[in-house]
Amino acid sequence: MKLHLGEIWHLISNPFFADAMDTALQAIPHGALLVDDAGKIAQIGAAADLIKAHPAIEIVDHGDSLLLPGFIDGHLHYPQLDIIGCYGEQLLGWLNRYTFPTEAQFSDPDIANDTAQRLITELYANGTTTAVLFGSTHASAAATMFQAALDRGLRAIIGKVSMDRHAPVGVLQDVDSDLRDSEALITQWHGRAGRLHYALTPRFVPTCSEALLAGIGQLHARHPDLFVQTHWAENQAEIAWVKELCPADCDYLGVYERHGLLGPKTILAHAIHVDNAMLDRVAAAGAILAHCPTSNLFLGSGLFPLDRVQAHDIRVVIGTDIGGGTSLSLWRTLEETYKVQQLRGKSLTPAQLLYLATLGAATGLGMQDQLGNLLPGKAADFQVVDWRRHRLLAARFTRDLTPDEKLFALITLADDRVTDRVYVQGREVYVQAP
Ligand code: GUN
Ligand code: ZN
Repeated sequence: MKLHLGEIWHLISNPFFADAMDTALQAIPHGALLVDDAGKIAQIGAAADLIKAHPAIEIVDHGDSLLLPGFIDGHLHYPQLDIIGCYGEQLLGWLNRYTFPTEAQFSDPDIANDTAQRLITELYANGTTTAVLFGSTHASAAATMFQAALDRGLRAIIGKVSMDRHAPVGVLQDVDSDLRDSEALITQWHGRAGRLHYALTPRFVPTCSEALLAGIGQLHARHPDLFVQTHWAENQAEIAWVKELCPADCDYLGVYERHGLLGPKTILAHAIHVDNAMLDRVAAAGAILAHCPTSNLFLGSGLFPLDRVQAHDIRVVIGTDIGGGTSLSLWRTLEETYKVQQLRGKSLTPAQLLYLATLGAATGLGMQDQLGNLLPGKAADFQVVDWRRHRLLAARFTRDLTPDEKLFALITLADDRVTDRVYVQGREVYVQAP
């Protein structure tokens, strides 16, 4: 058992509900987290009380630093780490010009492993402890990512990408071998260490034939507990293309529905150009939407209709969508979440923003019993935020600010400079160099 001391902030309820708006963010200025040997939070409270209750315990004193739940990144592409900021174009041009040629290189085990290791370092450096990841087409690269996550403590949902058309041969795979590879990865990795999960990952309709989607649908029917992740309604040219490719379907969503791929563990990334009738169907299926604001701005895709989505009671996670997105930092991603809704005339509160990257995301993934805040019984997945490492934040925090004011300054200014340490299941997985 260990007792971690610091200023604790976390969400204890949903600040999007009017009656919880002012009480959802719990701040404990001189706080303590008691972490048991199984890596779970045993107690949370005032430091003075917990020290008194456990006089002989090992203490880890983080001083004035903040203890926050680890961030959850609900959508990103592991092979795209090194194409962040590739200049120009919207989705389809960007995929053809940069993304597919880069992903083709992931048949090389050295590139796959080097990138997986660097990605985990970047995630931890940004306070992210759970990630929902697309791999490349190659089963070996997905296995490498799983192994890296297993070795280094990351909590992850990972899938090998399935695609068999409209892309260069280096990223395509025929249906039978794709399904065999996916099945083998499920057998080997799904449920490992209690923190690794497999996601069936048809890239999106334009790169998946009818036969491939049907095969993945059958695989899903055999393994209904698997996540499914794909893209939906990101870009107008993409949507027009799907209309051409599937003229008999009522719309883009209808293709996924017809193949049995829309369910309560399906994560649809983007969902920008969507009407209320489509959102009714997403809600009826209980599916999850991944909002990726830095990507949506960078690729000029559009503005996510968060209020309409929430009015339909649809769960939302926030994704960095690397490499269409521009930062691995959930702080930076929350800032853009705020700005996208500002452009739509909606001002999110600091607590609502933090919720989206922590408890809201955990709820989105159905993992709220385990993750999302620092209440007893949850996994001890947390980040130590040392605002002193950022000059402007250090100056700002000397003033008498409320936790909400400090939180909003962090959302606007913080990046990997402030991440001092990261713990997953109570185990230290990252320490910033002094
Ligand atoms: N749609 C299909 N593939 C991708 C991808 O890699 N990134 C984004 N942003 N959208 C996609
Ligand atoms: Zn994506």
